[in-house]
Amino acid sequence: MSDSPPPLVEAIAAGIAHEVRNPLNALQINLGILEQELSEIVPDRRSHVYEVIGKIAGELRSLDNFVTEFLRFARPPRPRFERVAVRPLLEDLVAFIGPECARKGVSLSLASEGGPDEVVADGFQLKHAVLNLVLNGLQATPPGGAIVVASDGDSRRLAIEVRDTGRGIEPDHLPRIFDLYFTTKAEGTGVGLAVTQQIVAAHGGTIEVDSRPGAGTTMTVHLPAAEGASGA
Ligand SMILES: Nc1ncnc2c1ncn2[C@@H]1O[C@H](COP(=O)(O)OP(=O)(O)O)[C@@H](O)[C@H]1O
Ligand SMILES: [Mg+2]
Repeated sequence: MSDSPPPLVEAIAAGIAHEVRNPLNALQINLGILEQELSEIVPDRRSHVYEVIGKIAGELRSLDNFVTEFLRFARPPRPRFERVAVRPLLEDLVAFIGPECARKGVSLSLASEGGPDEVVADGFQLKHAVLNLVLNGLQATPPGGAIVVASDGDSRRLAIEVRDTGRGIEPDHLPRIFDLYFTTKAEGTGVGLAVTQQIVAAHGGTIEVDSRPGAGTTMTVHLPAAEGASGA
């Protein structure tokens, strides 16, 4: 797969950014002004008109989210490569998402099973990519289950595994899970794995999926190690 979207997608994205997002932002601002001025004429906040405004605001917000996510996919920022220490990056990630796992009663732990200490990567993007995998694991795993984020590999390759004990992926869904907008969740967007795959590809890596329905899923990100990095 290529690192950047085809020119047509870029052209559409530029059009959407300009012709959709800008007026959308103007609509949101003007709706806010309207609501403020209305409050002087209709002081009762329980009045039906505020319910209507609330609905419009809600629809504008979801349109805005949709456009933002689409643009994030269609115009991914170029990775800013630097040497990134693997262990601190994963520790950061676990500290960030740990509380949400704990709230659901899903345990989250970190394991070092090998691999290099460093990779050449965009640390922010790489964290985002792995975070999407952990979030999917969390959403698929019932309370009492577990997620393990493990680093593995050798001196030339880093593998970051995200293992969950969740519901697994149906075999006929497997070929589609990386498709933009493919989701099996009522509240899903189907953007997460498409973004993760795009980031990993831009790093010269690949993603491997191993899933058993009813038992769990392991998603493995394979990345080339930093040249000359010390490895386990
Ligand atoms: N760890 C996982 N366990 C079970 N199903 C998963 C897992 N990761 C991804 N999937 C499946 O892949 C689909 C696409 O994932 P994603 O692109 O992140 O979108 P979303 O999370 O919004 O549905 C999910 O709806 C789900 O069906
Ligand atoms: Mg997701």
